[in-house]
Amino acid sequence: IITRFNKIAALAATTALLSFGAAQAKEFKIAVGDGGGGTQEALGKAFISALEEKTNGEHTASLFLNGQLGSEQDTVNDAAIGTLDFSILAINNITPFSPSVGTLTLPYVILSLEDAEKVTQGPIGQELVENTVRDAGVRIIGWAYSGFRVLTNSAKPVETVEDLDGLVIRVPKNEIMIATYKSWGVNPTPMAWSETFAGLQQKVVDGQDNPYITVYAMKFDEVQKYVTNLRYLFSIEPLIVSEAVFQDMSEEEQQAVLAAGQEATEFSAQFLRDKEAEIKEELVSRGMEITDPANDEAEFISLATEAVWPQFYDSIGGVEKLNEVLTELGRDPV
Ligand code: MLT
Repeated sequence: IITRFNKIAALAATTALLSFGAAQAKEFKIAVGDGGGGTQEALGKAFISALEEKTNGEHTASLFLNGQLGSEQDTVNDAAIGTLDFSILAINNITPFSPSVGTLTLPYVILSLEDAEKVTQGPIGQELVENTVRDAGVRIIGWAYSGFRVLTNSAKPVETVEDLDGLVIRVPKNEIMIATYKSWGVNPTPMAWSETFAGLQQKVVDGQDNPYITVYAMKFDEVQKYVTNLRYLFSIEPLIVSEAVFQDMSEEEQQAVLAAGQEATEFSAQFLRDKEAEIKEELVSRGMEITDPANDEAEFISLATEAVWPQFYDSIGGVEKLNEVLTELGRDPV
């Protein structure tokens, strides 16, 4: 009997070694702010398949699209207290909880996908990850890149700052974005992302801004007609994990989660490169009309950078934090 017992024990030990550190299989929940078809979903799906692959199928996760688990800002609170595992949301909805992240939401700082990748994946991004763990109790483990937030509205083509006159524009509850619209003479309406489609449909607000890919994923073309190609904010959308959940993981699990986040990040950048132009054409074929801002956006740029940047130096950790980013991107410091 003893021999038989030993054999079984030895077999069990081998099985444990072969499996993922004998960890208990887990199915995580991932909140996603947007609907399907956008970069948030693409990042989430890529993360799940990489996680499954890296844990030999023992850990997986499910996506809950369209704000089913709460508004994007609510999901930061839920992850902070450990009642939610993961969330994918726009960076502007993390800034209220971790102000230094605001460096990446200052208008006209990130001017391309390459800028976004450089800043998020280098030492500046790493510092923002650490600050966000400290300030908000969540850890950024991956980044989706969604493109510039273009302005959409249901009333009229907008080419100049003056054309904004009379429009009620929804913005996220984000002080930097509110200040940006104020610099253009508009008093915007802060509204949770999960309420925005209804707000546009019921004409509580006339317009909003988000990338083409997000406009498509949210079916905003059903309630918006005019698009202005603003480039004030390049949308970066992190995948966050609850720090409490992360700290409960074994080191092996943590490594798998981090590596899966990195793979999903690379996938998201490629998704944007492959899909943005196609999605823009699709929106035009559905009746959206696109306008470029007058004079290469010069008036929008000067009003926003001059009025908004200095207001937020303190909250981002000093003007030197902005200068670190500008220098990293090969631009002149202020
Ligand atoms: C917002 O406008 O609140 C967000 O940027 C939307 C998003 O996550 O796509």
